[in-house]
Amino acid sequence: MKIIMLGAPGAGKGTQAQLIAEKYQIPHISTGDIFRANIKAGTQLGKEARQYMDQGLLVPDELTVKILLDRVAQEDCAGGYVLDGFPRTIPQAQVLDEALAKQGEKIDYAIDVNVPDENIIRRMSGRRACLACGATYHIEHVPPKQEGICDHCGQKLVLRDDDKPETVKNRLKVYHEQTQPLIEYYTEQGILRTVDGTRSMAEVFDAVAAILS
Ligand code: AP5
Ligand code: MG
Repeated sequence: MKIIMLGAPGAGKGTQAQLIAEKYQIPHISTGDIFRANIKAGTQLGKEARQYMDQGLLVPDELTVKILLDRVAQEDCAGGYVLDGFPRTIPQAQVLDEALAKQGEKIDYAIDVNVPDENIIRRMSGRRACLACGATYHIEHVPPKQEGICDHCGQKLVLRDDDKPETVKNRLKVYHEQTQPLIEYYTEQGILRTVDGTRSMAEVFDAVAAILS
């Protein structure tokens, strides 16, 4: 099964993608996580990506598309995957569709996690992220078992650099301009499904699981 998670920054794409990956035993692929891992490791890619991410802007398609296509070509993706944060522009979606079509494949579902902008800014300030394994927590809604430590891998949790309120506002603006048109794109393909992302994490996942089963 090949699944795309759509939604504004902070809508819960990563949270739900992680749950899908666990339930269906498929890789969770987040371009944002890949960029953050590269920033942490100090790679050239990380340096380039950071210039955009810190301002809440999208990393250029040329960089992003190559990374994603390389990743989905790896062996562990043969049985499907859940994409989180990709595609984010119509050209990215088109490149992905073309690459899949060459192998006689296609995306099965694009799931839009719908959360109004007002809720987003509040959520982001409470988020804590693990840069080692990509797990996401919230100090009130989804706290880790031990404060500041990742349940999955034991690493220290951090507030992401791009979660400052000013940057979040920019990310929302970029989302509405460049990413929201994908809702129309996948509606036309007949594979868009929408879930109410303002519900609790477990309720959102029930809705997602109902779509996938
Ligand atoms: P990326 O890492 O993808 O960030 P984003 O889209 O802004 O999304 P977030 O990760 O912030 O939010 P999320 O929807 O995953 O929510 P989460 O589950 O964490 O991208 C970062 C940057 O990288 C971009 O700005 C761009 O520069 C670059 N980039 C990445 N991909 C790119 C691409 N394809 N092209 C170009 N540039 C790209 O949840 C948020 C919080 O809410 C958490 O604290 C969580 O615990 C909590 N929460 C989740 N669900 C619930 C719930 N139901 N109720 C209450 N709280 C909840
Ligand atoms: Mg995320």
